[in-house]
Amino acid sequence: MDYKEAVSFIKERIGSLKPEIAIVLGSGLGVLKDEIQNKIILKYEDIPGFPISTVEGHAGELIIGELSGKTIIAMNGRFHYYEGYDIKQTVFPIRVFSLLGIKNIILTNAAGGINLDYKPGDFMVINDHLSFFAESVLRGKNEDEFGVRFPDMSDVYDKEEIKKIKQIIEKHAEVAREGVYAYMKGPCYETPAEIRALRTLGADAVGMSTVPEAIVAKHSGMKIVAVSCVTNMAAGVTNQKLSHEEVKETADRVKVKFKEIIKEYLLKM
Ligand code: HPA
Repeated sequence: MDYKEAVSFIKERIGSLKPEIAIVLGSGLGVLKDEIQNKIILKYEDIPGFPISTVEGHAGELIIGELSGKTIIAMNGRFHYYEGYDIKQTVFPIRVFSLLGIKNIILTNAAGGINLDYKPGDFMVINDHLSFFAESVLRGKNEDEFGVRFPDMSDVYDKEEIKKIKQIIEKHAEVAREGVYAYMKGPCYETPAEIRALRTLGADAVGMSTVPEAIVAKHSGMKIVAVSCVTNMAAGVTNQKLSHEEVKETADRVKVKFKEIIKEYLLKM
């Protein structure tokens, strides 16, 4: 894929700014946008090679600016496999970030709770993931400028950063969860049988994003921290049917907390 044009386009627009941290804003976290100072906004449709997001509730822009004293680049709106993109297109921006010299990335998402202790509105720091059921984002000729053919995945999510962000979550929420995120392709929610299977396999939460981004970020040597907002209990856990409305409602209810957590974490990075 040709990342170079996107990289030059962004560099030209941001001039002397040097973003050090990338943040992918999941459902609800778009509110972080208002807090970014001196921001430059680049619409995905204007960036060469960038796909365009299609999901309701997901914007489509890169925001470069200052937050908590750090220069950040935020993706307001991400690309999901279920939208119909090739899996490689969904992670195009992450590779661009790598070529911009970014070494730290914060991934956020909305997820279904599989762990029976969890409640909607909880925050879970991801300490590992399952991606058995999805095509590998690294399939195909290895792009050696980013990383090796067979990258190690023993430590995708940085242990020190997990500790740091959990302490911050504990201040803002009743409890800080830590667990395994299972990546599913979507767009249908899982069946109760799938959720029982995922629980048996060790998953605590489930969602349709983040893991392809995390794999590519790890491949290119970034330090990753990822947080899920548990927006609903996964299929079959309660009698309630799943809906995007519930996901949006919960994300909306806790978005201010989520925003404060990320802002405070940035201060401590
Ligand atoms: N399953 C998959 N993705 C999700 C869910 C879920 O229950 N909730 C939010 N994203």
